[in-house]
Amino acid sequence: MQKGIASNTIFLVKEAVKSLASTVPSSEKLLVFADLGCSTGANTLVMFSEVMDTVSTTCNELGRPVPQIQLLLNDLPGNDFNTLLGSVLSFRKERIDECTSDRSMPFYMSVVPGSFYERLFPKKSVHFIYSSCSVHWLSQVPMGLYNVRQGWINKGSIYISEKSPPLVSSLYLKQFQRDFSLFLKHRSEELCSGTCMALIFPGCSTADQSAKETAAYIACLEEALDKMVSEGVVNAFDVDSFNLPLYHPTMDEVKFVIKNEGSFELMQDFIHEAPFSEVFGDTHGDTNEKWEKLGLAFRSILESLFVSVENNKNS
Ligand SMILES: C[S@@+](CC[C@H](N)C(=O)[O-])C[C@H]1O[C@@H](n2cnc3c(N)ncnc32)[C@H](O)[C@@H]1O
Repeated sequence: MQKGIASNTIFLVKEAVKSLASTVPSSEKLLVFADLGCSTGANTLVMFSEVMDTVSTTCNELGRPVPQIQLLLNDLPGNDFNTLLGSVLSFRKERIDECTSDRSMPFYMSVVPGSFYERLFPKKSVHFIYSSCSVHWLSQVPMGLYNVRQGWINKGSIYISEKSPPLVSSLYLKQFQRDFSLFLKHRSEELCSGTCMALIFPGCSTADQSAKETAAYIACLEEALDKMVSEGVVNAFDVDSFNLPLYHPTMDEVKFVIKNEGSFELMQDFIHEAPFSEVFGDTHGDTNEKWEKLGLAFRSILESLFVSVENNKNS
């Protein structure tokens, strides 16, 4: 899923990197790139390969010396950094083997575990920040989904759904606004002056988050949980008290936070509309294959979250 999204948006990254490589002072001997929420790195390395080629081609065209490059790879401390490092090291070896002496571009990589809702890098130390399909993860489940009078207010749902009271979507929006503002504030301190970021969000085309095209995959999951509750496999209270810490913003909601936070100016925006079948594969018909595909897609996105909630309950 993320692979398709990354390849549809790589042209924006290339444009930004080209502009960076042609405007950064020639005295800059090192360009620092960061990928926030890189996971195990499959898409990072595709993106970084494009970045290196773009820097090298742009510098050669302009007769500028090709700078050294450093890539900072960030994710939460619980990420599978061993798998990430394995892919990174073989990628590095491949790139070094490919380089002829006149096209060689030394590059270095470092892993930076931590939450992007905190400061990750020294002041003014990074030239380009990229984050794909990660900043829609909130720092926490929105506060206020439980109150003493009503208990859990989003009963039977795990995100904003057709059944959710209107307060649920405003609590989610507020949490997104708080988190994204904090994200922008920290990044504005870390980026060198005049540089930029490329952020890719799985978003929503309408402010109604429960709209079918947005929440379809979550609605499938809710349906499955509902069935498990009726079969006695899962406790109804566990579903009522479980809410996903993510938010699919609209472009207007993203722009609103950028404008209000004030550290960044939006240079370019681009919406790629991905139908359900593009995101999760062709899922027509009521076949076992369809449900297996969907199950695998959900697992890759959400399994760790469900497992950690289950483990916390058992401990
Ligand atoms: C859907 S994956 C996207 C991975 C990768 N960027 C891609 O495009 O394939 C989202 C990643 O964001 C990470 N993430 C979520 N919240 C984060 C946070 N606060 N700080 C750093 N990483 C975070 C998750 O651990 C996960 O690896």
